[in-house]
Amino acid sequence: MQLGVLKALFTDKLTKLYRLSEAENIFYMVLYYLEKKSKTAVLLGQETMLGDTYVTLLQSLMDGKPVQYVLNEAPFYGLDLFVDETVLIPRPETEQLVHWILEDHPNFQGSVVDIGTGSGCIPLVLKKHWPYAQVSGCDISTEALKVAQRNSKEQNLDVIFFQKNILTEELEPYDIIVSNPPYIAHSEKDDMHENVLEYEPHIALFVDDTDPLLFYKTIILLAHQQKSTCYFETSEYYRPELDNWLKEHNFSFVWQPDFQDKDRLLKVTFD
Ligand SMILES: C[S@@+](CC[C@H](N)C(=O)[O-])C[C@H]1O[C@@H](n2cnc3c(N)ncnc32)[C@H](O)[C@@H]1O
Repeated sequence: MQLGVLKALFTDKLTKLYRLSEAENIFYMVLYYLEKKSKTAVLLGQETMLGDTYVTLLQSLMDGKPVQYVLNEAPFYGLDLFVDETVLIPRPETEQLVHWILEDHPNFQGSVVDIGTGSGCIPLVLKKHWPYAQVSGCDISTEALKVAQRNSKEQNLDVIFFQKNILTEELEPYDIIVSNPPYIAHSEKDDMHENVLEYEPHIALFVDDTDPLLFYKTIILLAHQQKSTCYFETSEYYRPELDNWLKEHNFSFVWQPDFQDKDRLLKVTFD
């Protein structure tokens, strides 16, 4: 079968769930995963066999399962990481956060911890760029830590992963603290994509509606005691409330917009 015909078959089915551009991207991810071929192969009119694997993958995709979980793979800032349904799929905004940290601290050699590490995406990239730093990641979830450790081994990057409930346990001092904590209130569920709700781990997404800023406040107060520089990903809805809270405490902070020009990346520093 011509790859162009296969692409048409995929996009025809997937546009029932996704926009055309997203459906095409998913097809190209599958093509690369199965045959290590890119868009050029399609444009050149190359042929392929429509095997069982294509059909099985298409079926899972049509069930609404995100392509990264179907392929057990997610790209993140130059690393191809293993992911499954026990960890959040790493997002482009988080790559932006990592980019900001790396720009702020070239050749960093101190200590850093990522709180709520999921797949380990943040500390693994930091370790790749900072070979002499002491890089750690923690999470409350045993399953997520297994994935992070698997990625550390597969990428040959020496990151220390450990279990911690950051809301109830102490944390030893670090020079830098990074976190993309759970920040979606349960009341926002109705606005979310069905496949995020169905497939991504709720412990990674949701925070108690009574205080959606709980993780930020807890981590910033910890960082204040330790004089650690902190970097966060957050929701654009929280900027006014976080601004007020940070000003009340006299903490220095700066926002950076994400790709969609939303203030979702935050740095907090202490003298
Ligand atoms: C939004 S995900 C971020 C995952 C990853 N850092 C990323 O950016 O893709 C939040 C993570 O925080 C973890 N988490 C939730 N509650 C926690 C707690 N009380 N203490 C530590 N980690 C927690 C979840 O298991 C999840 O892996």
